[in-house]
Amino acid sequence: MDQLVIEGRHPLKGTIRISGAKNAALPILAATLLTGGTFRLQNIPRLVDIRTFTDLLIDLGVTVDYSTDNDSDFLNIDSSGLSDHEAPYDLVRKMRASILVLGPLMSRIGKARVSLPGGCAIGARPINLHLKGLELMGAKLRLKEGYIEAKAGRLKGAHIYFDTPSVTGTENLMMAAVLAKGTTVLGNAAREPEVIALGQMLNQMGSKIKGLGSNTIKIEGVKKLRPVDWKIIPDRIEAGTYMMAVGAVGEELIIEDILADHLEAVISKLRSTGLQIEGDNARISVRKKGALHSVDVTTLPYPGFPTDLQAQIMVLMALAGGLSVITETIFENRFMHVAELRRLGADIKVEGRSAIIKGVKGLNSAPVMATDLRASASLVLAGLAAKGTTTISRVYHLDRGYEHLEQKLAAVGARIKRKKAYLIR
Ligand code: EPU
Repeated sequence: MDQLVIEGRHPLKGTIRISGAKNAALPILAATLLTGGTFRLQNIPRLVDIRTFTDLLIDLGVTVDYSTDNDSDFLNIDSSGLSDHEAPYDLVRKMRASILVLGPLMSRIGKARVSLPGGCAIGARPINLHLKGLELMGAKLRLKEGYIEAKAGRLKGAHIYFDTPSVTGTENLMMAAVLAKGTTVLGNAAREPEVIALGQMLNQMGSKIKGLGSNTIKIEGVKKLRPVDWKIIPDRIEAGTYMMAVGAVGEELIIEDILADHLEAVISKLRSTGLQIEGDNARISVRKKGALHSVDVTTLPYPGFPTDLQAQIMVLMALAGGLSVITETIFENRFMHVAELRRLGADIKVEGRSAIIKGVKGLNSAPVMATDLRASASLVLAGLAAKGTTTISRVYHLDRGYEHLEQKLAAVGARIKRKKAYLIR
């Protein structure tokens, strides 16, 4: 398994361009199952999770190929040849987002067999709300040998309420509802930009969805959809991670190809830590001037502070002058990075769903291990800040969600290298 080796304390200066959002691209790939014909998708990030999802589509009989036009890469997808309806254990085990094929398969062909995802490093992550919604829409579900087997004629519209807003749950049920008979109302729906982007693409395909971005989404089923060309929105979590890298090690980064509007809660919090952030919606500068201030953070569904940046901001708080409390309200087990950050000298105590962080003067290098995608990103930030050379193992987690991470960081002054597995004894 590859490792990342980081020599810390080299400030960052330069420009970083943000890639397309993984969590926007995955549901959009799933939506190509809704109708045959060629979709032309732009700004798809080159990530392991995207590869896993396209492997799943290919398994289902979909054709997938890359092309380049005017220096832009496109992913061309055609599901006219859809011939299977199963998401096998081996793929779902690698990536929980495989569950996103359930809604579109039920919508288009009325049957799906999808391996039930197990727990994962950040929590139990049930999918009961996806399943309850499909049942209310008339699907018959049963669990057999670890697989959810779902069947229906044409799904019918229903009133569905989410006990807690679920991002992929809202996406799955929106895709289930677009071809259903009648009107579906999703109450307490997720409002994340990735959900809105999917809804906008579905509307472009001929769906009738209203209320995107609010917590009540109304979907009037239609009989037919058409393929479209679509561009994936920028990755707000990748952008937030690089903004926090400036907080960890200094000095100044220009971050381009973003939608800063999607980062309002993050920008506001980072300004409170003392970072100077200026610019417009598509391009911002982030500058560190002086010591970081401690702030309290509570993760919340969008538009609140994202759980996917909780581990990264903890690194800043570990280095800030004072005491801060970070409370994780979305996932029950998302503090796996704490033990690793402590190995680097951070002073952090976990009490239930809160981490209490007492800022220290500096971090020191140590070998550490990545446990999930965002925890790995926090270790990279800690490595950039630490004195000495930090080695991070299990970096395959990072490859799932950060496109060209070490190249992007090295280009702005970080000393970061990948040790390929075959070079590691
Ligand atoms: N939940 C239920 N039942 C359900 C679904 C969710 O109880 O049927 C609970 C979850 O256990 C959690 C909360 O609802 O406590 C929110 O989970 P959600 O369903 O919104 O998470 P998700 O859709 O599985 C997506 C992202 C995650 C991100 C979360 C929260 C994708 C592919 N994944 O997951 O991204 O952390 O929303 O914003 O969009 C990542 O990129 O590193 C990542 C984990």
